[in-house]
Amino acid sequence: MAEPRVTDIRGLDLAVRDLAASVDFYARLWGLEEASRDADTVYLRATGQEHHVLALHQGPKIEILAANYAAPDKAAVDALYAKAVAAGADVLDAPHALPGAAGGGYGFGVRTPDGIRQMISSDVERHTRTIVDHRRPRKFSHVVFRSADYPQLEEFLCDILGFKLSDRTDGIDFFRCSRDHHSVALGKIAGPGLHHMAFELPDLDGLMGASGRLKMKGYPIEWGVGRHAGPGHNVYSFFVDPNGIATEYTTDMDQVDDATYPYRSAEEWRSAPMQPCMWGMGIERSEKLLLARTGKLIEELNRSCTDAISQKLAS
Ligand SMILES: [Fe+2]
Repeated sequence: MAEPRVTDIRGLDLAVRDLAASVDFYARLWGLEEASRDADTVYLRATGQEHHVLALHQGPKIEILAANYAAPDKAAVDALYAKAVAAGADVLDAPHALPGAAGGGYGFGVRTPDGIRQMISSDVERHTRTIVDHRRPRKFSHVVFRSADYPQLEEFLCDILGFKLSDRTDGIDFFRCSRDHHSVALGKIAGPGLHHMAFELPDLDGLMGASGRLKMKGYPIEWGVGRHAGPGHNVYSFFVDPNGIATEYTTDMDQVDDATYPYRSAEEWRSAPMQPCMWGMGIERSEKLLLARTGKLIEELNRSCTDAISQKLAS
């Protein structure tokens, strides 16, 4: 058997304080759609076949709960589990049948060295009906974590989950598990936590249409629209959601393969004649986005909620 590895990223699980407001943002404005729900969780799908790309959980505070990855089959899940156990990783459970509301399937959880839950699964239900609308996300694209424990996290991704390092820069390193240039990236700033998440639109017109929809509904573009001059060369437009989370529309990321992709080091990228944006348009990043990507907006929202509860209890 080839070395077991995850083969795609499915999406994220997030805890939010106001579930209804969050679902409204992602379903009515962002372009996702409710696939299922249980007592305190809503599962939102994109237009593709993946059961859901975002699970929103009612919780006491805003935080990332898990990143979810696909393995080809149950044997691969078992092999990845065995690898995680042998490596001494913080394995949360043995492979088991997963909840039906989340699309079922077979999988297990394991924490990164800095404590973020990663869920590996196979045989999750897929939609037979895809949605034709190129101005809505068709799949989850990538997650960028903030890492407090960087070398160990890179080892975890590559040695246990089977990711390949695509490119390294001074600020962010990029890892792939499929043809996409990156599905996970590690931001070398204080963590652990979520730096941003990204959803893929099918084409540039779709990204522009979706970005305009958000803008007209009162959510300004915080960075973009632009095309990265750096790793991945994907088109981007960034927003900040009602929970203080940086969320991105993206399209046209480099498609690569292990045999031919030329990894470049931080030194090589540093000396490359590059600007933040290939088009020279999407250069300015808003202060709000910078606060969101460092986790400071989420901290502020969680703190204001805690203060409000304390004041209510004291009165
Ligand atoms: Fe991104």
